[in-house]
Amino acid sequence: MLKLGILGLGEGRSTMSAALQSTKIELVKVCDQKLELCLQRSKEFDFYSYTTQYQDLLDDPTIDAIAIYTPDKFHAEHTKQALLHGKHVVCTKPFIDDLSKAKELIELSDQTGKNVFVGQSSRFFEPMKKQRADYEAGLIGELITIESYYHADHRWFLDKGWSLENAFKWLYGGLSHPVDFIRWYLPNIEEVMGYGMLSSNGKNGGLKNADTMHFIFRATDGRIARVSGAYTGPVQPVTRDSEMSCILRGTEGCSQGDYMDLRYAITDKTGEERILTWEHKLKHYFRFEGKSHHAGEYQNYLEYFADCLESGQTAYPDVKEGIGTVALLQAMDQSLQTGKPVKVADLLREHGL
Ligand SMILES: NC(=O)c1ccc[n+]([C@@H]2O[C@H](COP(=O)([O-])OP(=O)(O)OC[C@H]3O[C@@H](n4cnc5c(N)ncnc54)[C@H](O)[C@@H]3O)[C@@H](O)[C@H]2O)c1
Repeated sequence: MLKLGILGLGEGRSTMSAALQSTKIELVKVCDQKLELCLQRSKEFDFYSYTTQYQDLLDDPTIDAIAIYTPDKFHAEHTKQALLHGKHVVCTKPFIDDLSKAKELIELSDQTGKNVFVGQSSRFFEPMKKQRADYEAGLIGELITIESYYHADHRWFLDKGWSLENAFKWLYGGLSHPVDFIRWYLPNIEEVMGYGMLSSNGKNGGLKNADTMHFIFRATDGRIARVSGAYTGPVQPVTRDSEMSCILRGTEGCSQGDYMDLRYAITDKTGEERILTWEHKLKHYFRFEGKSHHAGEYQNYLEYFADCLESGQTAYPDVKEGIGTVALLQAMDQSLQTGKPVKVADLLREHGL
């Protein structure tokens, strides 16, 4: 049993549900600096071991791992503290928001021998797991190109104070999902370019950075990919499109995973076309009102992490893969600012990575 502490009880609510329903996890204590939120979550889950002080999680010798769900800009510091206190770390995406913090975290993870696993939740949703398994089984042949997007009506997110700060970027908060898909299949992206803009809805809502973006990527072997995101306007009906999707075009087949819609389509190498859905798993993935939190993928990734720790294997994305994705996001950010293509290796070198 992995003995877990959770920091940050907004999205950490999903993790509480995931941990409490899993036979592989023992939830020891949860923490949020807002006492009312601790009380609210305690009541909701009938789980009363909470604290408003992160230090209490860090000092608790019965906790093996800390799962971090604080705002993006705190992830590096909270991860560092956990490692320094001998804890394994699960950190939600985006892992960190600035490469200048990366080297220290890699070194700390090496020195302490503690694992850092990045909770790239979307990999752990049913359609994406199936898409990966079919790809690895060779059902679409060799990968030619990949397209991925995340478009969502996140105007509700503007109610969170930190979403309106200069530090908050949908580039990191949103595109970290489709960019992780790109890197899952094409780890060696060498160059990126893109355009972004702040929509009139975003501007009126008080956002400071681009909420609408399109990017193209080139890998070292010449293969190309694209990613896009739009976050402050309505989206298509889900029967017609998905908020988050990943399309793999291969030499012998093609597949598409539709994230929250639990829908997957493939034309495989025999020419057969199949569309799969997982209605029977809706209750595993969505446990709260609507599709606001999706605890099932969190349970899938926590259990994967617990299994990896037990068998001594690395859980991916690990600290290096997570930082590779942050490097790509930072290169994308630089391309938005300069209007020019950016080489990822230049950024890594700049930060001694
Ligand atoms: N699919 C996913 O993986 C997914 C989905 C949503 C959010 N997230 C990530 O989760 C993180 C949090 O997002 P959110 O929507 O829950 O934000 P939120 O603002 O609702 O929650 C963050 C919580 O952290 C608490 N907090 C901040 N600093 C603290 C500290 N030092 N000690 C104790 N508590 C502290 C705040 O009080 C707050 O309740 C973000 O990084 C976001 O990107 C991931």
